[in-house]
Amino acid sequence: MHIYQSNCRTNTHINIQTKTALYRFKSVLLIAALSAASTAVGLSASAHTHKSSVNNNLPKPVIADIGILEKSGVEILTADQELGLGYGILTNEQEIRLNELAHAEGKCGGFEMLPFGVVDANHPLISDVFGQIREQNAKNRRFHPTTESFNGLEGKPEIAQALEEVNTANMRATVEFLASFPNRDYRDEQPNRAIDAFKARIEEMIKGSTLPVTVESVAHQRIKQNSLKVRIKGSQRPNEIIVLGGHLDSINSGGGDAPGADDNASGSANLLEALRILLSKNQPERTLEFFWYAGEEGGLIGSAEIAESYKTQGAQVVAVLQLDMTLFPGTGAMTLGSMTDYTSSWLRSYLETINGLYIKAGIVTDRCGYGCSDHASWYRQGYPTLMPFESTMRARNRAIHSASDVLDERLNFEHSAVFTKIAVVMAMDLGNSTLKEPK
Ligand code: BES
Ligand code: ZN
Repeated sequence: MHIYQSNCRTNTHINIQTKTALYRFKSVLLIAALSAASTAVGLSASAHTHKSSVNNNLPKPVIADIGILEKSGVEILTADQELGLGYGILTNEQEIRLNELAHAEGKCGGFEMLPFGVVDANHPLISDVFGQIREQNAKNRRFHPTTESFNGLEGKPEIAQALEEVNTANMRATVEFLASFPNRDYRDEQPNRAIDAFKARIEEMIKGSTLPVTVESVAHQRIKQNSLKVRIKGSQRPNEIIVLGGHLDSINSGGGDAPGADDNASGSANLLEALRILLSKNQPERTLEFFWYAGEEGGLIGSAEIAESYKTQGAQVVAVLQLDMTLFPGTGAMTLGSMTDYTSSWLRSYLETINGLYIKAGIVTDRCGYGCSDHASWYRQGYPTLMPFESTMRARNRAIHSASDVLDERLNFEHSAVFTKIAVVMAMDLGNSTLKEPK
């Protein structure tokens, strides 16, 4: 018998984007069923019931590895052989089987629930997903670090100095503060309690700053929880945006408290500490945008809406950094995992370069195996992304998504400080540069 790892969700939500209304579902009945599902498990669940642990009988449209779909006995409705990805609709039994197979490979989810519900195999939304990923992968293949490396980059004293200012006591205080809420669940009766309190801290922090900086709550269509956005307007190229983000929400897949200290108070604290340091520096030439996303645990909901609207508006996002889980040094202190899926070769190579110049952490590469965090939302919209992670996948913190994701002696703020530094360097170096991902 297979025992689920406690940090893995055993079911996924069916989220229906508003725009889904534009598309025709297979049947009216199905629409009714899906709408009911999104209300029942997604939006209006009461605060402390077992919100996500029920396996209901609703169809689960997913995109997953062809091999894993086949082994789970799922009928593949359409596939992209080059990507090795297929589209299918899971039954309960198939979902359980697929989860087991994914776990056996050390993955958590192993598949992605589609945000737009069930659609026909030849629906443009499916080919859009495949097409976008193919295009990004092609860009990754075209990039050659040897010929397109960052030779011009050199260590700047003002950046080295800024890194000295990283204060782990501040980071600890932020993690303690966020983990002190019973949860930061997007489905809670008060989904914005922790978010509003965190916003008040940001407001306090930016009050004295002479930079053109704003903070705002970003409302979402699909959930009641808000994302937070801080914008420092660029002096020379304000339309070129560097996004520094992580999710602020938390989840307990069995119900109960969800302190989310590592997942993801840690990344949230890295971002706040980076912001504090940057507020005392010169105005960057490019615009810096900090995001604390809502509803990541429900399927990247907040970031999916944001990235989609940026793309629709034609926003020029030069780079997206995702910080999600940075406190557990599973592969050794000061060694990070650079995730290679749903991220850009260009930025991974950039990370190697700035690490050599300023940070000097160990870097190992690994894969999530699926769109495991908000960087995937941006990647799907064609933007360059980077996801440095606390360790390899195998060595990650297993206490996440449970009441045990608390600050304990296993967590290491010196290790986590590496991630604050990455954010500061990206802001001060890339934020004052004309570097872009090559076409
Ligand atoms: N922080 C996790 C993602 C993660 C877990 C990355 C372990 C690397 C190692 C994130 O908050 C999460 O739980 N993501 C979901 C997927 C999402 C699409 C709902 C997951 O992994 O199940
Ligand atoms: Zn997370």
